[in-house]
Amino acid sequence: MKKIAIYPGSFDPVTFGHIDLIKRAIKIFDRLIVAIARHPQKEVLFSAKEREELLKIATRSIPRVTIEIFDGLLVDYVKRKKAGVMLRGLRMISDFEYEFQMALTNRRLRPEIETIYMMPNESYCYLSSKLIKETASLGANLKDFVPLFVERKLKHKINHRAHKGVM
Ligand code: PNS
Repeated sequence: MKKIAIYPGSFDPVTFGHIDLIKRAIKIFDRLIVAIARHPQKEVLFSAKEREELLKIATRSIPRVTIEIFDGLLVDYVKRKKAGVMLRGLRMISDFEYEFQMALTNRRLRPEIETIYMMPNESYCYLSSKLIKETASLGANLKDFVPLFVERKLKHKINHRAHKGVM
């Protein structure tokens, strides 16, 4: 039986840390579905469609990876996909408490689904989409954090919002 894993998140936007994790995961699982939460519990800069587009470009050379958008409860989506495993990245101790709560809540909701954690390469352990958005809005060079096409899209989006007076 094929081992399918779901890698859920906001991906607002995809970073080198996410890509690193996807490359590690695909060595272990037969198929990986990167699942973008349409409405995560935080404000997002990119629409779900835009986040999907960026992830598709970022992963196009990685085999057996598909990108999807999901709504509603994550464990229900995982069940619908007939996947037994959810994958999350663990960067630092500060991630632990939230991840622990989420994994145990999801386990209570659907005990048959396991959450597995993987650590990205240490050079990406400090990366977060939130800080990348902040540094981008202040004009920093993002070459160590995100692929060039993501940096361009990010800066374009931020400039566009600034002109409209949103940021
Ligand atoms: O990248 P993020 O923002 O840390 O990802 C969080 C995400 C999207 C995985 C989480 O918010 C989620 O699972 N949302 C879907 C709704 C849900 O199932 N919530 C209960 C989680 S215990």
